[in-house]
Amino acid sequence: MTDEIWNKVEDYLNTALGGSDPALEAALAASAEAGLPDIQVTPNEGRFLHLLARAVHAQRILEIGTLGGYSTIWLARALGEGGRLVTLEADAHHAEVAQRNIKREGVARVVDLRLGKALDTLPGIAAEGGDPFDFVFIDADKANIPAYFDWAVKLSRPGALIVVDNVVRKGAVVDPSNETEDVLGVRRFLERLSADRRVVVTALQTVGAKGHDGFALALVI
Ligand code: SAH
Ligand code: DHB
Ligand code: MG
Repeated sequence: MTDEIWNKVEDYLNTALGGSDPALEAALAASAEAGLPDIQVTPNEGRFLHLLARAVHAQRILEIGTLGGYSTIWLARALGEGGRLVTLEADAHHAEVAQRNIKREGVARVVDLRLGKALDTLPGIAAEGGDPFDFVFIDADKANIPAYFDWAVKLSRPGALIVVDNVVRKGAVVDPSNETEDVLGVRRFLERLSADRRVVVTALQTVGAKGHDGFALALVI
């Protein structure tokens, strides 16, 4: 896999576009040092999230699945003056590492990290009755994607963008012998989309440093 042409292209694009800057590199190094899995978005995916959030002038961002806060930092940097990002993480160790990374980067003031299973913390966020979200990144456990997507639509304004990571999973989505909870969650999510009148949506395959995967992108209408 490492000698696949797409890895060379990924390296080339990273170099051409600037990759991660020192603050993001420090977050990656600290996450690796703390033993976190190497499953954060790639630099160019981080850049993609950042520019989408800027395109919708995001003042309120929701992220489900923080890990060490790498994507969180990309997204927090997209916020306008006075903007806020809420990020949900179930694993206390991941949350602790993320909190340190976010603080080192200087975005702690705008990031509100909530520890707990997202399905337990989302109702509280709804109950707080804050402004609707402009951008949502769904990147936690895949079995619950359908439920996370419903929450994301419910908590977002018309015109908001929702990105759902990892909807292809090396083609597992079309492998009939794969009936893991994760893959069933992804399929249930994708197969409901064409009937979902709340959104306009697409899903694209990707290849790169993290192999073959893909994401869905939805516009709330
Ligand atoms: N968005 C991150 C990567 C997230 S990896 C980045 O790109 O930098 C997925 C994360 O979701 C892991 O940290 C995992 O602990 C967390 N997670 C798994 N199940 C969860 C749940 N039920 N609620 C909240 N977070 C969960
Ligand atoms: C895994 C999770 C992710 O969010 C990702 O982007 C890649 C891999 C995983 O659980 O293996
Ligand atoms: Mg992911």
